[in-house]
Amino acid sequence: MPTLKVNLPEKNYPILIQKGILNHIGEKIKKIYQNKKIAIITDTHVEKLYGARIKKQLDNDFEIKMIVLEPGEKSKSMDVLQHVYNKLLEFEITRGDLIIAFGGGVVGDLTGFAAATLLRGIPFIQIPTSLLAQIDSSVGGKVAVNLPKGKNLVGNFYHPKAVFIDPDVLKTLDKRVFSDGMAEVIKYGCIRNKKLFDDLLKYNDEELFEHIEQIIYTCCHIKKSIVERDELDTGERMLLNFGHTLGHAVEKHYKYEKYTHGEAVAIGMYHITKKGEALGITDKKTSDCIKEILCKYHLPYEMPAMDQEEIIKTIGLDKKNKGQYMNIILIKKVGESLIKKIYKKDIVAFI
Ligand code: GLY
Repeated sequence: MPTLKVNLPEKNYPILIQKGILNHIGEKIKKIYQNKKIAIITDTHVEKLYGARIKKQLDNDFEIKMIVLEPGEKSKSMDVLQHVYNKLLEFEITRGDLIIAFGGGVVGDLTGFAAATLLRGIPFIQIPTSLLAQIDSSVGGKVAVNLPKGKNLVGNFYHPKAVFIDPDVLKTLDKRVFSDGMAEVIKYGCIRNKKLFDDLLKYNDEELFEHIEQIIYTCCHIKKSIVERDELDTGERMLLNFGHTLGHAVEKHYKYEKYTHGEAVAIGMYHITKKGEALGITDKKTSDCIKEILCKYHLPYEMPAMDQEEIIKTIGLDKKNKGQYMNIILIKKVGESLIKKIYKKDIVAFI
């Protein structure tokens, strides 16, 4: 697979997607980093499966410190962040050293935020191990931790030095975690690529895995192209939030326990598309196609019964929706998306 390059005014970095790259990660890192110390931040699941493999690749040439966190969203907190800062300082890390985020979205976001802020910035590399992290959160520089009031409320834009993606590690993912990532893959099809959407509809499980490298490449290509044009998320990048406005409200209502992020986004994509159809913005029957693909990938689509006032309040608290207006992401049809600016009070038509 050709290397993708994210080209930004202040920084360029490669995204390398290759089955088995984890077995050559030492060579790849030696090419871009010449100092001694590397702190690897991971979680207990990933450490158990791949910790020894990555260490073996790096042990001969570098001084390695592994920081292993509990898996799950609860680790994306200020407390865990402080623990990570302490561990990095005990390791006497400097701005000339390197941090590796080795895990899913939680590890990537928290590690990226620690790297962005400790000592005013330490270079870091992303080695994402979940489908969601490989196609979304490891690319584009959004790093953050959660606060009790909501997700990703403390964050920054801080890009990695490189992203190394090994699709082979997806083989050990739990089925539900894989489907979680598939919701975001489907999202890329909905907003930008009808061929991707149609291919996903026709693949069986085996074919999906045969094509997974290409699928990841397609998603990362869409994301990097959007990020290059709108790094700071003031315009086109908002398209990546298709399904997320309602999705966040669903996730929050169930205290991030009942639905995964992808499942909540799946519900959000279907629901907003139905509303788009009812308002004459989206072509008729588009929501049926979305329902079909969500069912195929074991994702929910039905909006659970929730209090409308609560949804409106949650949407209003979203950090992107300050002021009188808000942006809603809709699709005209599969592969074609749009940003609709509405008065906040008009959100009722979309929920
Ligand atoms: N995950 C959406 C974005 O990076 O903008």
